[in-house]
Amino acid sequence: MQSVSFGRHAPALRSIVHLSDTHLLAGDRRLGGAYDSTGGAAAALAAIERTGIRPDALVVTGDLTDLGEPDAYRRLRELVEPVAERLGTPVVWVAGNHDERPAMREGLFDEPGSLEPITAVHDLDGLRLIVLDSTVPGWHHGEIDAAQREWLRGVLAEPAPLGTLLALHHPPLPSHIPFFDILELRDQDAFAEIIGGTDVRGILAGHLHYSTNGTFAGIPVSVASATCYTMNLQRPATEVNGMDAAQSFHLVHVYDDTITHTVVPVVDAPTGDYFSAEWVEKMAALSPQERLEAFSRKPS
Ligand SMILES: [Fe+2]
Ligand SMILES: [Fe+2]
Repeated sequence: MQSVSFGRHAPALRSIVHLSDTHLLAGDRRLGGAYDSTGGAAAALAAIERTGIRPDALVVTGDLTDLGEPDAYRRLRELVEPVAERLGTPVVWVAGNHDERPAMREGLFDEPGSLEPITAVHDLDGLRLIVLDSTVPGWHHGEIDAAQREWLRGVLAEPAPLGTLLALHHPPLPSHIPFFDILELRDQDAFAEIIGGTDVRGILAGHLHYSTNGTFAGIPVSVASATCYTMNLQRPATEVNGMDAAQSFHLVHVYDDTITHTVVPVVDAPTGDYFSAEWVEKMAALSPQERLEAFSRKPS
């Protein structure tokens, strides 16, 4: 019943699971001695499976590991690949500033290690997903260098049937938290010049460890929070630090004329059982007017 639609929009044409910042450490060590990043990733993946979604891609927007350790990439694969297989979806890995290109290539793609940017173009049945590498080896700030920008210009020269999504780690958005300014994506004007006026419909990013969104060159940007730890934003901007709560992922639904990014908190909480597949089936058997009467009308 997943593709049922009672509203003005037909069901989404494509769906994507977007998670970010898993920050695994070899040997399942705790991040900063505090955060169980392996457990956080496993919990997010279990929650993704509970949604019943059959996504067209599972996108992880970087900081896959915390230190680029080969064993951490192996562990990540061990966690993610069986889930992706059960969901019948490809995994799209994006490099983050905590990753190391050579180890990531060897660990996740079984390719020889190299310092070349990790980019890719995926065709999700007409929806193009372009992976960019915004990392700068040896640094934590971000950049799409000139060579990668030119490559991107070439790819975008030909539009895709359902348009294009970009996935990169460093979001081309401001943050109200000062320390993120130091680690921001540089050369944004040159990046904007490449993607403005193309078929790019959305940008998926991570890095901030909190969920936010905005626009860049008129294109919607959606930042997924982290599965390891998140920023406690209930503090003045100068005092924001990590906390072990509010981990989440996004469900991205691509419609013909819009894209939604739905934040799914990974929590265990008592939940009602009024709505069900049977309830939806019952509604599906009614005419639109009968459905309005059955579910929209207030008791007089
Ligand atoms: Fe991160
Ligand atoms: Fe990052």
